Amino acid sequence: MIFKIGSHNVHKVVIRLCVSRETFNHGEVMECDFLIIGSGIAGLSFALRASALGSVVVITKKEGNDTATNLAQGGIAAVVSSMDTFDLHVQDTLDSGAGICDEQVVRQVVADGPEQVRNLIDIGVDFVREGKDRDSPLSLGREGGHSRRRVVHAHDLTGREIERALLKKAKENPNIQLIENSICVDLLIVSKSKTGKVKSCVGAYVLLPDDDEIVPFQAKRTILCTGGAGKVYLYTSNPDISTGDGIAMAFRAGAEVANMEFVQFHPTCLYHRDAKNFLISEAIRGEGAILVDENGNRFMNKYAPDRMELATRDTVARAIDEEMKRTGKDCVFLDISHKDAAFLQKRFPGIYAKCKEYGIDITRDCIPVVPAAHYQCGGVVTDEWGNTTIAGLMALGETACTGLHGANRLASNSLLEAVVYAHKAFLFCEKEFSTIKANKKVDIDLWRSGNATKLDEEILINHNWDIIRRTMWNYVGIVRREKRLLLAQKRITEIQQEIEQHYQDYRVTPNMIELRNIALVASLIIMASLKRKESRGLHYIIDYPEKKVSCRKWYIFKKVVDADNHEKVKVRTKKISS
Ligand code: SIN
Repeated sequence: MIFKIGSHNVHKVVIRLCVSRETFNHGEVMECDFLIIGSGIAGLSFALRASALGSVVVITKKEGNDTATNLAQGGIAAVVSSMDTFDLHVQDTLDSGAGICDEQVVRQVVADGPEQVRNLIDIGVDFVREGKDRDSPLSLGREGGHSRRRVVHAHDLTGREIERALLKKAKENPNIQLIENSICVDLLIVSKSKTGKVKSCVGAYVLLPDDDEIVPFQAKRTILCTGGAGKVYLYTSNPDISTGDGIAMAFRAGAEVANMEFVQFHPTCLYHRDAKNFLISEAIRGEGAILVDENGNRFMNKYAPDRMELATRDTVARAIDEEMKRTGKDCVFLDISHKDAAFLQKRFPGIYAKCKEYGIDITRDCIPVVPAAHYQCGGVVTDEWGNTTIAGLMALGETACTGLHGANRLASNSLLEAVVYAHKAFLFCEKEFSTIKANKKVDIDLWRSGNATKLDEEILINHNWDIIRRTMWNYVGIVRREKRLLLAQKRITEIQQEIEQHYQDYRVTPNMIELRNIALVASLIIMASLKRKESRGLHYIIDYPEKKVSCRKWYIFKKVVDADNHEKVKVRTKKISS
């Protein structure tokens, strides 16, 4: 069988079990039970559990801890206090999600929260407690949209602490092989029916480090945990790896993708010439920080008089955007200087130190802040176990669209979703494992670069990165307009055609793979934004400023190939009722 991807043909091979940290030989297919793409909280949590069932390979683009998880500051929202209830957490999540969360999913995730927090503690995550004693209650932060203090944290370095503990366990585990500095090109898909319509995923093609070779990794289950796609935008709180690889690969393979118009802009990223994607956690507003303009005037009373700075993120980000447009200034300011200096240094050591690097003393000065792309609420559609619409392919964490977030994710529900679904996906695999294991091996083809040559001008790639990110920021940002969306669509479509040509002509490089992925994700965001003819949650469009009952649904996209072999996007909707 020849499986053709662009001009890059693939052909037949030898299969080798991939269980040890060894080098790869030309002409082989690597084999494992679970192929996990991405090493953040979702990928590693699943890896640690799945290692009890079989061999696990984790592919990660940079170092193991170069993940969005590692940068997470706030924490994990979970009901662990007697002052809180599941119903309140559910209600806050539904309110933030603006009418299109899947309520059953919300209830399930919230109910599983406390157990998953306990599991992280058992793994070795050192969350902050009220007292010195290990049994004293967990210290709980507060963030926008939460009616109670419920964010379990490790000061403002929660993600780093979780990533440290998970990576340590994963590296010690002989059943887990972590392959760093490697990037997946595409999924390995085989047809299960004569018409080719029923597909199954059997692994992925991986570009290994310092190597021109793309190696097929065959797996019984492939799990996409690649995080979000903040790099689609010019300004983002995300790390460089956030190029939507999982969403792009799944969509290309024919999986359903939903709710892509709901891109969350975090209201407060540090605004400084030399600071790249540094977040000022919402937890700082939870401790009383106020937002002011350059004259020191508080402005949230105009936009959310009840909740003020602790309104949900969509509201606060839009308020800041409007203030910046009104005043013509490049940023607004966050002021926490009224709080005790010793408290601030202890509660926010990361933010205190980073701001100090740039000459800002948060115990005395206002912090200049701007909104930036932070989280993709939509993604690859999954069922309650993390299965996508392609057999053998699962998606977890930010890559997935489970129904938890609806039109606007509640703060600190992302790490929660990742651990809950990693557990559910494991339970599914455990139950099905004898069937999964018994799956017949299929013929896997080696990747061949055909007539592709080495790319000699990197500018061909970098230029398009820049155009995509600027176009998305200027035309598909916090406040949208149909006219601008259509212009963006035209531009991105042209760029996609150019990228496909480069992809045919040149040997693929990591930079080219990521560019191809951000272009596809950008096109999905635009397509979804044009479909939704109303304003809801994070999607605010001037042409349709109202929320409409008739639009209480998800827009779900899927790539199909028609009888003439032309690719098309099929759209279906899913009504949400409660
Ligand atoms: C933050 O600390 O403000 C980010 C937390 C989140 O994205 O949920």
